[in-house]
Amino acid sequence: MRKTLVVGNWKMNGSKAQTEALLSELLALGPWSSDVAVCPPLPYLAQVQALLQGSGVMWGGQDVSAHNGQGAYTGEVSATMLKDFGATYAIVGHSERRTYHAENDQLVAAKAKAALAQGIVPIVCVGETRAEREAGHTDAVVQRQLGAAIRSLGARIGEVVVAYEPVWAIGTGLTATPEQAQAVHARLRQQLLAATPAAAQMRILYGGSVKPDNAAQLFAQPDIDGGLIGGAALKASDFDAICRA
Ligand code: 13P
Repeated sequence: MRKTLVVGNWKMNGSKAQTEALLSELLALGPWSSDVAVCPPLPYLAQVQALLQGSGVMWGGQDVSAHNGQGAYTGEVSATMLKDFGATYAIVGHSERRTYHAENDQLVAAKAKAALAQGIVPIVCVGETRAEREAGHTDAVVQRQLGAAIRSLGARIGEVVVAYEPVWAIGTGLTATPEQAQAVHARLRQQLLAATPAAAQMRILYGGSVKPDNAAQLFAQPDIDGGLIGGAALKASDFDAICRA
């Protein structure tokens, strides 16, 4: 039995005051029967740690360096540093990183490996663009993206969380139908099962315009084990409703 996981990806949003307000409001609405985590912008990680410590809500980074420990990598933050702030998760390969920072499958796989090596659970994102879906390439694209992580991690792929985020559904208000998402999730799980029997227990999250009114239907699908939430994670009442879906 897989426990639902709901992760809020705050992206580049917030302030100290907003972090404080959002998390106090959210904690007043919990607890939840699903696992819950938030990924704030890194300057707020220490604040989030202080606010969430002992609450049962976990936290993580929106990205992580492929380089371990310390070193001359300007602008990078290592998994060791995330660990230092009590983080559980690091999102890797979000489509916004792939698009705006030219991250490729190999770099994403290296980031996932660096995270796991420090005991941080990578949330490996895959997803096709609208053009790729219309051309009938959805499976080829997501399987190529996931395949790179599988090759890099071997059987340890069983320790990651996978997130399917169709690029055309992110921040657009367009959501994959539960059936569209389930079809992709089922094939991703088949691909994972070929690498490790642990895939039966792995969580595959859906992301892309998840809202309180569509979350329950999505999460009811057999291979959808929770969500990676953008916009709706910035409003405590919406995020709470999704965590309960
Ligand atoms: P939205 O929920 O705003 O569509 O964002 C999804 C996402 O990219 C989460 O990582």
